[in-house]
Amino acid sequence: MPKIAVIYASGMGRTKKMAEAIANGALTIEGVEVLIKDAFDAKPADALDADAVILGGSTYNYKLIKAMDPFLKELAKLDLKGKVGVAFGSYGWSGEGVPTLIARMKSFGMKVIEPGTTAIQVPTKEDIEKCFHLGRTIAMGLAN
Ligand SMILES: Cc1cc2nc3c(=O)[nH]c(=O)nc-3n(C[C@H](O)[C@H](O)[C@H](O)COP(=O)(O)O)c2cc1C
Repeated sequence: MPKIAVIYASGMGRTKKMAEAIANGALTIEGVEVLIKDAFDAKPADALDADAVILGGSTYNYKLIKAMDPFLKELAKLDLKGKVGVAFGSYGWSGEGVPTLIARMKSFGMKVIEPGTTAIQVPTKEDIEKCFHLGRTIAMGLAN
């Protein structure tokens, strides 16, 4: 069964809300396994076992949220070549989080779907719908 891993780091729960919407969208497609985890709890195997890895991280002090760093370090040791990658996250004004996730996934040899999905500050209803559709679309792609 194809698998999707949604792994995120979120300071105030905004990127987490996006992660939940992505996972909920993916869960609407039968025959796809969906895992959602805070990066703090995620294991390298969560990404290794997945066909698509959807990474979320917000932006603090002009950088990707620090809580994502240990997990990215673990991912760098794995062979993730050819896996589908997507990035998402909330930001306030400069938004380095999502481009950083994209660059890291590309450096792992993943097939990254750009530009990823962002929300400014608290995700709006439309942002959440976009996330839901993103999850659904990725899951449909894997199920076919
Ligand atoms: C202390 C602090 C620093 C921040 N620095 C930035 C920044 O440099 N660039 C930016 O785009 N947003 C910045 N933000 C805004 C956050 O990215 C934004 O509030 C986002 O919604 C937080 O999402 P989260 O709850 O998923 O962490 C900052 C927020 C705080 C509280």
